[in-house]
Amino acid sequence: MAKERLKSPRARLFVALDLPESVRDMVVGWGRRALNDPVLRPLAADSLHITLAFLGYLPEKEIPRLGEIVAASGGRAPAIELRDPVARPERGRPRLFALPAESPGTIALQAGLREKLVAARLYRPEKRPFWPHVTVARVRREERGSNRPALVTKLPGALPQGLLQLAVCRRMTLYRSELQPQGAQYTPLAQVELPAGGRQ
Ligand code: 2AM
Repeated sequence: MAKERLKSPRARLFVALDLPESVRDMVVGWGRRALNDPVLRPLAADSLHITLAFLGYLPEKEIPRLGEIVAASGGRAPAIELRDPVARPERGRPRLFALPAESPGTIALQAGLREKLVAARLYRPEKRPFWPHVTVARVRREERGSNRPALVTKLPGALPQGLLQLAVCRRMTLYRSELQPQGAQYTPLAQVELPAGGRQ
């Protein structure tokens, strides 16, 4: 018990690039038609983002310092081009469907942020290269207690023309993620408006 008391409270945190509201709304509208297999759980508009750094559980007392790093990241607002949905993992039963985002500007923004977070010892980057994407649906479990995803029989269709256009993302956010039975709840903790002029 004494040990428990000594542990500082922790929060599950990540930094993401937010999509413009018009793009989020269009993705949700498309998802109503295209993500209609009953085993899919489409994400709500406020859960659609491009994760730049998944930090995992960190002490809550680090949140102000993280907020400062995000605010002072020095990055520019990147342009993205969304692509048709893909399943992940590629082999076996998919666990999620995501829209890949082509965007050298997002790759540059993530590299700058990553460097600052690593220098502050707040982030251990993944070994695999950064893959900019927007998760649009997760696959429900086959049955309670099982970790196996259910079988998706109706695959999501292509994106409409309006979503294949260049879109500039102007906001980066530090989120707290709270895991709940009906899916994770994301709460913004700190935000920065990115200045224009990023690499396209
Ligand atoms: P995903 O959508 O591709 O699963 C919050 O969990 C966000 O952080 C999600 O957008 C998720 O990406 C991302 N993320 C990246 N690495 C993660 C990890 N190891 N565990 C959970 N979420 C992770």
